[in-house]
Amino acid sequence: MLVLYGSNLGTAEELATRMADLAEINGFAVHLGPLDDFVGKLPQQGGVLIICASYNGAPPDNATEFVKWLGEDLPQDAFVNVRYAVFGCGNSDWAATYQSVPRFIDEQLSKHGARAVYPRGEGDARSDLDGQFQKWFPAAAQVATKEFGIDWNFTRTAEDDPLYAIEPVAVTAVNTIVAQGGAVAMKVLVNDELQNKSGPNPSERSTRHIEVQLPVNVSYRVGDHLSVVPRNDPTLVDSVARRFGFLPADQIKLQVAEGRRAQLPVGEAVSVGRLLSEFVELQQVATRKQIQIMAEHTRCPVTKPKLVAFVGEEPEMLERYRSEILGKRKSVFDLLLEYPACELPFHVYLEMLSLLAPRYYSISSSPSVDPARCSVTVGVVEGPAASGRGVYKGICSNYIANRRTGDTVYATVRETKAGFRLPDDLSVPIIMIGPGTGLAPFRGFLQERAARKAKGASLGPAMLFFGCRHPDQDFLYADELKALAASGITELFTAFSRADGPKTYVQHVLAAQKDKVWLLIEQGAIIYVCGDGGKMEPDVKAALVAIHREKNGSDAAAATRWIEEMGAHNRYVLDVWAGG
Ligand SMILES: Cc1cc2nc3c(=O)[nH]c(=O)nc-3n(C[C@H](O)[C@H](O)[C@H](O)COP(=O)(O)OP(=O)(O)OC[C@H]3O[C@@H](n4cnc5c(N)ncnc54)[C@H](O)[C@@H]3O)c2cc1C
Ligand SMILES: Cc1cc2nc3c(=O)[nH]c(=O)nc-3n(C[C@H](O)[C@H](O)[C@H](O)COP(=O)(O)O)c2cc1C
Repeated sequence: MLVLYGSNLGTAEELATRMADLAEINGFAVHLGPLDDFVGKLPQQGGVLIICASYNGAPPDNATEFVKWLGEDLPQDAFVNVRYAVFGCGNSDWAATYQSVPRFIDEQLSKHGARAVYPRGEGDARSDLDGQFQKWFPAAAQVATKEFGIDWNFTRTAEDDPLYAIEPVAVTAVNTIVAQGGAVAMKVLVNDELQNKSGPNPSERSTRHIEVQLPVNVSYRVGDHLSVVPRNDPTLVDSVARRFGFLPADQIKLQVAEGRRAQLPVGEAVSVGRLLSEFVELQQVATRKQIQIMAEHTRCPVTKPKLVAFVGEEPEMLERYRSEILGKRKSVFDLLLEYPACELPFHVYLEMLSLLAPRYYSISSSPSVDPARCSVTVGVVEGPAASGRGVYKGICSNYIANRRTGDTVYATVRETKAGFRLPDDLSVPIIMIGPGTGLAPFRGFLQERAARKAKGASLGPAMLFFGCRHPDQDFLYADELKALAASGITELFTAFSRADGPKTYVQHVLAAQKDKVWLLIEQGAIIYVCGDGGKMEPDVKAALVAIHREKNGSDAAAATRWIEEMGAHNRYVLDVWAGG
């Protein structure tokens, strides 16, 4: 059995790893790997399970070549002996391209003769992706094993054989540094607050301007991302360790049964604090599967039914899970605090957690200013916890915000895949729309344009639409932007949602500038949108569609086709992420 994944941030990879492990403990011979390792060589025997995400309609980095290959002019019977099942990890916030890559993989395989042993499954990260997978996989596995004429089944679960066993070791044992996927050490050079914290109208929020020193062999281009490896908050780590009867400094050694796939460091002494701060996500929403495992480890007759009440298939149980857990974003740790009678062992807790994922930040500088350093612009996620318990602090944004000058972070430059690049010919007009931290890549764009202008390049027109709450509070890089506008590098248009006058957002200012916007579009402008992909980008797109309809007298369908074609020709390009 071949288990393949396409994954940038680890969700699809983790599901694939778990399923490969499950198949293996049930006696299957399994190979696990990224889709790009199997370009041109899908096996003619056995089955292929594919779990894949989509990014703005494009494949994840480790599935790019595979998807390209599937789109080539392949013979009609190219996959005639291939039997497969596809599960897509998506997010319905990206309505136009929801599940687009797994759907494409499924269609291309079946179009060229492969047999889907089970209909494609869809997981929606906006709701209960894990629950949807837990429902899809057993049904798919049952049909698939029949298809292969074998009477093995997936009766053994990973819980029958806990992945880890814990052996306490001497406190003096030394930890070895575990390399994180390609990340390298970078020194923090600058960490400044960008929001105005003083005066009569101070901001209560925080956005940090962080500059890091790039190692000599690391370079970047404007539009790229910095992928940062975070650590969990020490206070949270301390609380979690204590809930399981440890102190963060306690050393343990994880043992794992031979042949099992473990992602945590095994066979070496490691402190509980290090395991919890560097390796696992502590704040993700508890899945129904995790709550079920908690219930299995609860003897208390009062607590157990309360946990069980979240995990059944009955509509009221599903609704209870949605409103109480998903809606309030309660993590397993939140539930462990809420239900102190739950006796979940530490090794089971570790096994159920996801690996700590790196976070992406759009680079907000240009190498033309200094190729040895780059900056990111980080909105610090902090507010009253939706669970009602204390303050919620986003892991990575707070981790970076708390680094001091001279500290080391582990990070890697990730090349943008989405055509989010300045045109080589800077006389091509550009329209940049980036409210809030969505401004980040455009600061890099503008620095690049200024540097090229200084060297004699002639610049085409540029419009920058920036939005924030109030000009006294969160007008990021205000002086710089005004200076760039004054020197003709861009025109600057601002939208303030909480200043005097009506609430104004970037899409409103875009609509107000429709004549100029349309003129530039007719002159071949590239439109860039960066920031919140859930609400802002659809609103901006709707404003552009409305401008097209007005200027062209087109109907809704034609205007929608137009913006889709703009996207297909890299003239409407996105660098967007799920908002809060
Ligand atoms: C391609 C790309 C580019 C990006 N560029 C930038 C950038 O330039 N600048 C930037 O700041 N970010 C950027 N991001 C977002 C960034 O990667 C992180 O997602 C963001 O910093 C939050 O990460 P975190 O670890 O701090 O929060 P996490 O620990 O991951 O927490 C975030 C989660 O907590 C939830 N949450 C928020 N508030 C609460 C609350 N009060 N109670 C309970 N739950 C809550 C949110 O819904 C979200 O699901 C980018 C993302 C992508 C994918
Ligand atoms: C920048 C960005 C763009 C995305 N674009 C899409 C999309 O076009 N279609 C979709 O279904 N999901 C989209 N998603 C959601 C991801 O595919 C989903 O969160 C998935 O679980 C991520 O899997 P991974 O962690 O394995 O990379 C997007 C997510 C991000 C952060």
